[in-house]
Amino acid sequence: MQKKVLITGGNRGVGLALVCKFLAEGFQVIATSRNGEIEKVNHPDLTVVKLEITSSASISNAVSTIKKDFGSIDFLINNAGVGLDFDEYHPEIDVVRATFETNVFGLLNFTESFLDLINDGGTIFNVSSVMGMLNREKIVPNATAYRMSKSALNMYTKTLSARLHDRNINVLSIHPGWVKTDMGGEDADVTPEFSANGIFELYQKRLPSGTFWAADNQVELNW
Ligand SMILES: NC(=O)c1ccc[n+]([C@@H]2O[C@H](COP(=O)([O-])OP(=O)(O)OC[C@H]3O[C@@H](n4cnc5c(N)ncnc54)[C@H](OP(=O)(O)O)[C@@H]3O)[C@@H](O)[C@H]2O)c1
Repeated sequence: MQKKVLITGGNRGVGLALVCKFLAEGFQVIATSRNGEIEKVNHPDLTVVKLEITSSASISNAVSTIKKDFGSIDFLINNAGVGLDFDEYHPEIDVVRATFETNVFGLLNFTESFLDLINDGGTIFNVSSVMGMLNREKIVPNATAYRMSKSALNMYTKTLSARLHDRNINVLSIHPGWVKTDMGGEDADVTPEFSANGIFELYQKRLPSGTFWAADNQVELNW
């Protein structure tokens, strides 16, 4: 049977590359974008759902639509995220709050609202970052908000993984690599397509739940 994957932030960057990869692999793809459109892809197996992840009303509408049209899904990729302070060395509280609204509170609110729609035996990938790692040898003191948000996301991966153990749902944190997107910039190491291929490869391996992996080199990360 055709597997169903849901990808948040599917309209550009890593999310768009994931949409194309999973369509090419024969999945039914449900992707979200803030205006309900993905202009660059037109495919019979793609459905686009409107989602502003910081809004509970928008989450509720998106979940109802997906439940009505698809019933359940096999794989959730929490990809949507923001990096608002890469050039900052002093955290501004409004920027910290805005970052957490999307990368942590919004992601958690969406995932929790969606859990009943994920099939037992399914998978959740939280797209995190090495910038959120606590065990990194050298931490550049920029992007406090972004780094903290990804550390918090990693803890969500761990707690959710333990909570969903009995349903055999695998919950992983994934670093997509340093990717050439609006967020990663021109100087980044890999293309979105390379990153999406790596994320697909990690999915195929069915790695242990509650672990953290890099998609660019398929290496396990020590949180
Ligand atoms: N690029 C890298 O080098 C890199 C490295 C490590 C981790 N990551 C992570 O990988 C993920 C994808 O990054 P990217 O480089 O593809 O970023 P990107 O090109 O900036 O795309 C971000 C995506 O998230 C969506 N989004 C942002 N805020 C949202 C909100 N409030 N509600 C719904 N959607 C929202 C954006 O939608 P709009 O188009 O409407 O803004 C867009 O689709 C992020 O979680 C990021 O932290 C990226």
